[in-house]
Amino acid sequence: MSFVRAIAGRYVAGETPEEALVVVKELNKKGFSATLDILGEHTKTAEAAVAITDQYAGLYEEIKKQGLDCNLSIKPTHIGLDIGENCVSENLMKLLKKAAKTDNFLRIDMEDSTLTDQTIELWNHCQMDYLKVGIVFQAYLYRTENDLKNLIKNSGANFRLCKGIYQESPDIAIQGRRKINSNFLKLLRFAFEYKIYVGIATHDLEILGNSYAMIAELNIPSNMFEFQVLYGVPMSGWLEKHLENGYKVRIYVPYGKDWYEYSMRRLKENPNIAGYILKDLFRR
Ligand code: FDA
Repeated sequence: MSFVRAIAGRYVAGETPEEALVVVKELNKKGFSATLDILGEHTKTAEAAVAITDQYAGLYEEIKKQGLDCNLSIKPTHIGLDIGENCVSENLMKLLKKAAKTDNFLRIDMEDSTLTDQTIELWNHCQMDYLKVGIVFQAYLYRTENDLKNLIKNSGANFRLCKGIYQESPDIAIQGRRKINSNFLKLLRFAFEYKIYVGIATHDLEILGNSYAMIAELNIPSNMFEFQVLYGVPMSGWLEKHLENGYKVRIYVPYGKDWYEYSMRRLKENPNIAGYILKDLFRR
């Protein structure tokens, strides 16, 4: 447990909103934008879903009060999707109202493939009320190409492109880094060519190199994309390089009591991290 806590220290911005907002302030000072995520998913009761929604709503107020450059990322199942459409819709509407009041943006994260259709529907529904709301598409899903085609007629669409983190069957999802990377770049090109605002969310240096080449080749203005990374993932100087080039960098900052599960997920993604933590512990 204490070992995982050491890992959490790297990837999680504390357990409380106050701690997370301090981290956001520090990131802003360095020139980075942020998006806050309260850790957790698959909330079991309507009361708990409302409590999470209220915590998110409170974050919008604090962000505004402190003048931070930070939006919010939410998971539909965290604010009630498993409980029912009414529950999640009501909570989303509450958040959109608060986002509008504080002139901020809401990102709807994408969960596993059983929820893709519902998540897109929720997003479409949200856009009828408030335009500053975005979605996430996963490059490993075969369907994503079609989902992006539907965005062509959706002026003002804003999506985050990531590889996808869930275990999905080969029937619906591309397997293997090489092929996923190639689809990621194909989808990115599509977004650029159709002038759809895209958050390029990856730590993969090969994709970053190729994105730079594509931006130059297609002469994409820097207000049509941003780079996004998870808080704590080492990026070999790329974040500073993005800033030097005048590109926006948004850091996904998770916080909350569910740090154990999140840190275990990061550890599975990159077991080398265990080595770095051990080295740090011995250095101390
Ligand atoms: P890949 O996994 O191939 O990693 C590339 C390199 O980065 C490797 O060398 C790897 O070791 C290193 N690396 C990756 N993760 C690391 C870590 N945690 N610590 C240290 N090194 C690491 N997924 C999803 O399904 N729905 C979503 O809504 C989101 N949202 C999201 C937001 C943001 C801002 C990011 C960056 C990512 C997501 N993801 C996500 C997760 C995403 O789908 C993917 O699983 C991870 O980003 C890892 O994929 P990479 O593109 O980084 O490549």
